[in-house]
Amino acid sequence: MPHILTKDGRHVLLVDGKPFLLLGAQVNNSSNWPGVLDQVWPAIDHVDANTVMVPIAWEQIEPTEGHFDFSFLDTLLTQAREHKVRLVLLWFGTWKNNGPNYTPSWVKLGNRRFPRVIGRDGKQVDHSLSPLNAATLEADRKAFVQFMTHLRQVDGTQHTTIMVQVENESGTYGTDRDYSPAANQAFAGQVPTALLKAANKQAGTWSQVFGHDAAEYFQAWQVAHFIGQVAAAGKAVYPLPMYANASLRDPFHPGPPGAYASGGPTDNVMFIWKAAAPALDLLGPDIYHREYDYYTTVLDRYARPDNPLIVTETGNDQPYARYIFATLGKQGLGFAPFGIDYTGYSNWPLGSKTTDAEAFEPFAMTNRLLRPMGELIAKLSFAGKVWGVAEPEHEHAQVLDMGDWRATVSYGLPSFGSSTSAPGNTPPKGGVVIAELGKNEYLVTGYFARVDFMRGKAKEHEHFMLERVEEGRYDEQGHWHFMRLWNGDQTDWGLNFTERPQVLHVKLATY
Ligand code: DGJ
Repeated sequence: MPHILTKDGRHVLLVDGKPFLLLGAQVNNSSNWPGVLDQVWPAIDHVDANTVMVPIAWEQIEPTEGHFDFSFLDTLLTQAREHKVRLVLLWFGTWKNNGPNYTPSWVKLGNRRFPRVIGRDGKQVDHSLSPLNAATLEADRKAFVQFMTHLRQVDGTQHTTIMVQVENESGTYGTDRDYSPAANQAFAGQVPTALLKAANKQAGTWSQVFGHDAAEYFQAWQVAHFIGQVAAAGKAVYPLPMYANASLRDPFHPGPPGAYASGGPTDNVMFIWKAAAPALDLLGPDIYHREYDYYTTVLDRYARPDNPLIVTETGNDQPYARYIFATLGKQGLGFAPFGIDYTGYSNWPLGSKTTDAEAFEPFAMTNRLLRPMGELIAKLSFAGKVWGVAEPEHEHAQVLDMGDWRATVSYGLPSFGSSTSAPGNTPPKGGVVIAELGKNEYLVTGYFARVDFMRGKAKEHEHFMLERVEEGRYDEQGHWHFMRLWNGDQTDWGLNFTERPQVLHVKLATY
């Protein structure tokens, strides 16, 4: 079974028993029908993703209560196998961006049985179902279990599907919590023991224990508990790794809960989700801000010893592509631009204005570069031996500290000439990943950047040099093929990466 392993606070995704770097591509929301798949595959093939993320909608599999139709899933599995990619399936159920649009009509129109959230003002919040309603949980869980049961039957040996996202960007806009009578009653009650333990707090009501944050924390507990139970029931029949994705709150100026999706897995309530939904393997950020500080701060918040980092969605235009290198630098297990297909839909300003091969080319470039060495990077990352950076807007050089060695990564320099005062690329597009292959030996690759090695801090006074710089390539089996040595101009001015997919093995030495 595909699974995520955690050791010493580091993580690895194992697929067919081997470390797997998830180079993902998520299709548009409505690209989950057999009739559009021929507009999906050419884009996936172009970007060279190894994993495709596709919705499986509740309305699609259970249009009539108790009657299931998995024909799309079957078609998708067959075609994914033909295209030699893995799948992450996205369960669009009670929550799809807060709301029940992807639930079947008998759910989304069945307000009495499946009631919506009530806001603080006593009015119904039209775009969100209550997480406290037992009937909603029961119906969602049943459908999800059918889906996972079918998946086990048709994919239980091949494991084309390696992971499942449970719901999509849950939480509620417009209110900090549900104020339905059932919710008010629960809110006046005691905080669950599991959460007290996780938060290291004494018993009490939500307001007593969490004060100002009580409403949001309560909502997070309810949503996470709901989704955690759906995930647990699904795992009981077919234990694939499962995760929830977050509509983010601004990491610097979050504003009040409800202005962002209150109760969803935002960074401030991850500890609640961990306690309420232990069946989830990770909480992933959906990052739609192109700025370096925003992006890398979010990566920091989601890369934790108790939370493997996967960028579960990100924008699909040029500025986002370089952040795969920063994601690898935070020990990320995966990275997935959203809206990769040729159905012509653009979610600009979040992503690209145009949605053709040219627009997606920056992702094709990084995937082409990284895919053949994915297993090696995932393996070394699990051992804590991978470093990576993406180019910031306002700084044009960064230092990576690998202990024995450091590397300055600078941007916008020509391939010849000294390394001082790098001007940066316009627009920023550089990125580098370095992985330790052995003592004093590193794999170095990237785009639009110069790498200068230095001795580690403690050994600064030692004389050193690049002993040997091999350029080569990894084949599909992950074997290294030597092509040539870099020397002379190619090493006198640092190791210069351009738009070409060049991979180096660098041996450093002191004398
Ligand atoms: C984030 C959601 O998770 C996606 O399904 C999609 O709606 C994008 N936002 C916007 O295109």
